[in-house]
Amino acid sequence: MSAQHPVVFVTRRLPEAVEARLTRDYTPVLNVDDTPFAPAELVERVVNAGAEAVLCCPTDKMSADVIAALPNKVRALATFSVGYDHIDLTAAKAHDLIVTNTPDVLTDATADCAMLLLLAAARRAWSAESLVRRGDWTNWAPTGQIGTQVSGKRLGIFGMGRIGQALAKRARGFDMEIHYSDLAPLPLDQEQGAVFHADPEELLGIAEFLSLHCPLTEDTRHFLDARRIALMPDGAIVVNTARGPIVDDEALITALRGGKLAAAGLDVFDGEPKINPGYLALENVTLYPHIGSATKETRDAMGFVALDNLDAVFGGRTPPNRVA
Ligand code: DGY
Repeated sequence: MSAQHPVVFVTRRLPEAVEARLTRDYTPVLNVDDTPFAPAELVERVVNAGAEAVLCCPTDKMSADVIAALPNKVRALATFSVGYDHIDLTAAKAHDLIVTNTPDVLTDATADCAMLLLLAAARRAWSAESLVRRGDWTNWAPTGQIGTQVSGKRLGIFGMGRIGQALAKRARGFDMEIHYSDLAPLPLDQEQGAVFHADPEELLGIAEFLSLHCPLTEDTRHFLDARRIALMPDGAIVVNTARGPIVDDEALITALRGGKLAAAGLDVFDGEPKINPGYLALENVTLYPHIGSATKETRDAMGFVALDNLDAVFGGRTPPNRVA
C-alpha cells in the first residue's frame, strides 16, 4: 500500500475488524453515527472529505445524478454487498468509476436465511411463537398451528447462481425435489439432479415452494405479479431473500390474504425499510429486516473483500470483483 494512504469515504458503520484494517491502510472518513446519508449530503461529504474512493452499501442510491456529481478524483466505488442494483453502472462507466462488489462470501449466510424463512413460513413460526409470547397458548391441539410439510415437496428456485445452488444443497437435506429456472441450465455436476425449466412460468406452475434468487433488473422487477402467482399451485409458499421489487407487493398480499398462497418468508422489501403495511396484518408471513448476510463471519468477510478490491485499485491491479 502506498505511503499516501488514500482517503476512503465510508457511508455506513462497518464491523470493527474492517474499520481497523481501513484505518491501518487508508485515511478513512467513517460514519460513526451510522445514519444513512441522503444523496445530496453524501455527495457533499465525499467532496469535503477529498475522497479517492467510496465504500458504500445497498442503502446508498448511487444514481446517475449522484455519480455525475462525484468529484473526478473519486476512482472507485466499492459496495459492501453482492447486489449492485443501487448503483447506476452505465453512469459509473461513463465517469470512469471502477465499481466492485463482494460475491461468494455471503452465499452460505444468505442461503441459510432462505432456508430459515422457508421453514418458518411452512411451519407458521411467527404465528406459533406469537401465540406463546402473548400467553394465548392454552393446550396442545391436534388441529392447532398446522403448517405445510417440506419433505417431498417441489422447491422452485428462480435464479440458480451461487445462492440458489447453496439453497438447493440445504433443501436436498430436507428431502425436497429441486427445480430451477435461469438463463441457461447448469453443468450436470452443479445441477446435481435439479430439474431445469427454460420457461420461468413453467417453474411457477410446479413450485410448491418458490425461492427468488435472481438479481433485480428491469427484466425481473415485479417478476412475481398477480398473473404469475395465479400460475402457482394453490397453497404454495414464497420466499424472497433477493430484492424486494422482484415481487409485486399488492399481488403477494392479496394472494396471502385470500389463501391462494399459504405463506411467505420475506427478508427484502420494495421501498425497505418502509414496507407495505399490508404485510403487517398477515399471520402467514415471516418478515425479516434484510438480514440474509448478517453473521459476524460473513459481514467481516464482506468488508475484507471490499478492501481487497480497493487495495487492488490503489495498487494498480484489476480488482478481483469488478462489475464496472
Ligand atoms: C447484498 O449483499 O446484496 C445483500 O443484500 C446485503 O448483504
